[in-house]
Formats: sequence, C-alpha cells, structure tokens
Amino acid sequence: MVSRVIPVDPFDLIIFGGTGDLAQRKILPAMFRRFCAGQWPTDARIIAIARRNLDTETFRDMVAEQLRGLVPADDASALSRFFECLDYLRLDAHREDGWDQLAKMVQSDRIRAFYFSVGPELFGPLAERLHKNGLTNETTRIVVEKPFGHDLASARSLNATLATHFKESQIYRIDHYLGKETVQNLMAVRFGNMLFEPLWNSQYVDHIQITVAETVGIDGREEYYEHAGAMRDMVQNHLMQLLCLIAMEPPAKFDPDAVRDEKLKVIRALDLVEPHHIVRGQFLAGPQGPGYRDVVGNPRSTTESYVALRTHVSNWRWAGTPFYLRTGKRLVARSSVINVMFKDAPHSIFGEDAGRHANVLSIRLQPNEGITLKVTIKEPGPGGMRLVDVPLDMSFAEALGPENQDPPGAYERLIMDVIRGNQTLFMRGDEVEAAWAWTDPIIAGWQARGDVPKPYDSGSTGPGDAELLMKRDGRHWQGIKP
Ligand code: BG6
Repeated sequence: MVSRVIPVDPFDLIIFGGTGDLAQRKILPAMFRRFCAGQWPTDARIIAIARRNLDTETFRDMVAEQLRGLVPADDASALSRFFECLDYLRLDAHREDGWDQLAKMVQSDRIRAFYFSVGPELFGPLAERLHKNGLTNETTRIVVEKPFGHDLASARSLNATLATHFKESQIYRIDHYLGKETVQNLMAVRFGNMLFEPLWNSQYVDHIQITVAETVGIDGREEYYEHAGAMRDMVQNHLMQLLCLIAMEPPAKFDPDAVRDEKLKVIRALDLVEPHHIVRGQFLAGPQGPGYRDVVGNPRSTTESYVALRTHVSNWRWAGTPFYLRTGKRLVARSSVINVMFKDAPHSIFGEDAGRHANVLSIRLQPNEGITLKVTIKEPGPGGMRLVDVPLDMSFAEALGPENQDPPGAYERLIMDVIRGNQTLFMRGDEVEAAWAWTDPIIAGWQARGDVPKPYDSGSTGPGDAELLMKRDGRHWQGIKP
C-alpha cells in the first residue's frame, strides 16, 4: 500500500509569531516535510512575521537549525529550495507601519492563510490590521491555536472578535489531536466497519475508558500551565475531542458541518460532573525531576497536573454507560488509549468456574498505533473447558507496511487542510464554547471548595483516588503501558 500525496494549489501562508516556539518546532518543520513530499508547489510562499529585527537570511539560518534532521538523505538541496519560498518580515501588531510591505508581498490570485501563532490577546489587533490594510478577501483563512480562551466568557469574546472580520467558514481552530492519523482512524474504524457499530451502545458496552498519559512534565511552560492545569490544557480539548469521536452518531457524510454537528450534540449531552466523580492530582518529585510545586516555584500551588473523571453522555445510545477520562503528566508511560469495555455475556454456559470474561476493544493512539480486541477462547489442552482471554492484535505499522510507517504528522495534515479549505478536523466556535460550558462549573466547584489536588509519585499511574473512583463502581482502569 503506497501513501498518496494530493498536491495543493499555490498559496501564501503568513505566520504571525514566526520566531516563536510553535512556528519553529511545529509549523515550519511541518511545511518543510510537506515540501519534501512534493505536496505544495514551489511558487507558494511562506512569510514569517515577528517583531524581531532580523533579515531573511538570518531568519533562514535560525530555521535551518530546526530542519537539519529532516533533510532527506537523497535530496541535499531540499533545504535551499525550501528557503527560496520562505521570507521574513518585521511587523508589530500594535503599529501602523510595515503593513503596506506585507500587502506588496502577497499575491492576489491565490489562497491566503494567516496563521496566528501568537497569544490570543493579539487576535483582535491582528484581525483589525489585516482588514484595515485590505489584506483579507473571500478566500482568506485564519488559523488559531489552542488554548482558545480560558473559560466560556473568554472563548465567547474571542469568537466575537474574530467574527467581526471573518466568517466562521474562514476560521480554523486547531486541536492538533484531530490531525493525528490514529484519531482519524477512530472514525474509519467506527463508520467503515459493520462489525462494531451495532454493538456501539449502552446495551453492549459496559463503559469506556479514555487515557492520555504522558511521561513529560511541564518544563519550559510553567507560567502557562500554572494558570491552565490539566483540565484546561488537555480535558477541555483533546480528551473532549476523543470522547466526541467515540460517542457521536454517524454523520450523514464526512463533511465539516455534518461531523461537527454530531460532535456538538455529544458535548451538549454531557452530564455535569459531580465532585465525587472527579480526582485531581499533582506530581511529586521523582527520578525525572522535581515535584510540580518546585517546578512552578509556588509551594502552595493548587493547579492539577492530573485529572480522572466520570461522566455520562445523556442520550438514547449511551444512557447508563459511564465514560471515564484520565490524563496526567509525569506518569509511568506515554500512552494514549481508548478502551471500549464490553459487557459480560448474559449467561455463562461454562458455569461459575469459568470466571468472568468480557471483550475489550483497545484503540491505541500513541505510541504503537493499532487495535487490539480481547476475545475469550478455550485454553488449549486437556482438563475441561478452561477459558482464557487472548488479544487479537493489529499493529497498523505491521499491517500497512513500511511505506506507511511515517505518516504526515498532525500539523502537516492540518495545515494542508487549511490550504485545501477543509474544516472537518477543526473545531467550530460553538463546539469550543460548549466544551467550556461543561468545563467551567467543574473548575468553579474546585475554586469554591478550595480543592487541593492529591499528590502522586512521578512515574506512577496517578493518585490512588483515581483507582477508587473506578473501584466504587466495581470497575478498574486498564494498565498504562507504553
Ligand atoms: C498540548 C498540551 O496541547 O498537547 C501539552 O498543551 C501536551 O501539555 C500535548 O503535552 C500532548 O500532545 P501529544 O501530541 O504529545 O500527545
């Protein structure tokens, strides 16, 4: 099976915050990889913009550092060809000068995308300047990053600011989880197979576990994280998106609004989380480094680096089926997995001694992307009917062959989708607001109660209370394995 590259039309991609971490580590490397793959034409342009006084040559040298490891062994000139498409321009969102120069650099007959790789406080001033300087037209797209707001009120105000100058169809709100190959596979597995869909409901599914475990801490992002915490940083967006893809009804077609309408219905059907159905944690020191409070330099910090919670999607399909979500930093392994835990067979013909056996469908998002279905079989050999659970295991890398071992990363796919004008994998404004509307009362409850996160050891599976959350329901978490 050979992966296909579908070329995009010529474009001008203008990156505000061009010298920043995201542009340097994600956006420009993603563009370079797509360039090497031959996905975009050499007359396309990338214009990186920042306030620093640099010339294009110095900027290119800076980018070269990031891209060195990505240059294909058989194409040594790739970097210099890429650089011919890359310019730098010094501009300040708060100043009038320089915008006419940008207007001269962009071309009128092609797709124009502005990537706001800057803090949300600059979205308004940038949108205003673009508009005032005649830089926007019907085909203009803007790309904005998470965090999209800090709560419902700020997300609403950001949406309103952007809506002053852009239509919803021009706004691309990134959640990079939606660009991951395997996250899209969730939709392919659910809606491309007859096998799963008839069982995908509360009649057959006992509960669902969504785990996004990380080994990394928060180094280098202390200030942001201390104000965000795991709830805002991961649950409100990435885990919410995974939950939506697992729980949503089949859209009529794979088209942006059909998919996003269904996701929105899921978010709106989510139950409010009761305080005793949520556990917050904060990591202690361990071999990987100091504890959370030392990292942020705040001995009294009550920001959570871990969250585990139980919620329900209150609709016909999922009535009574709990969804358990957990995510945390400095855990025992990096592992993102969705486990669909099926119910026991209604009656065991093998008697009490055969024990309890239930099917588990594990969708591994990262690392080692693949699917495992735990099925019950007879243990081989004599001695009667002894049952044992074995995995039917499909690693995508093995099944799809070596040419598919290195699929485009999330940013590569998402930026190409911006150029193509496909919003399916981007969050709509109402979706983001609905996610905040669900998150806000949880955070407000913590604040009102003066909740303090439970400490947990670095390198563990999180606080013990997260186990209790499950145990109280007669269930247990699946292991966190790399
Ligand atoms: C980011 C969060 O959005 O996602 C980070 O801000 C987190 O805290 C990261 O580490 C996880 O992304 P990935 O792709 O490494 O799973």
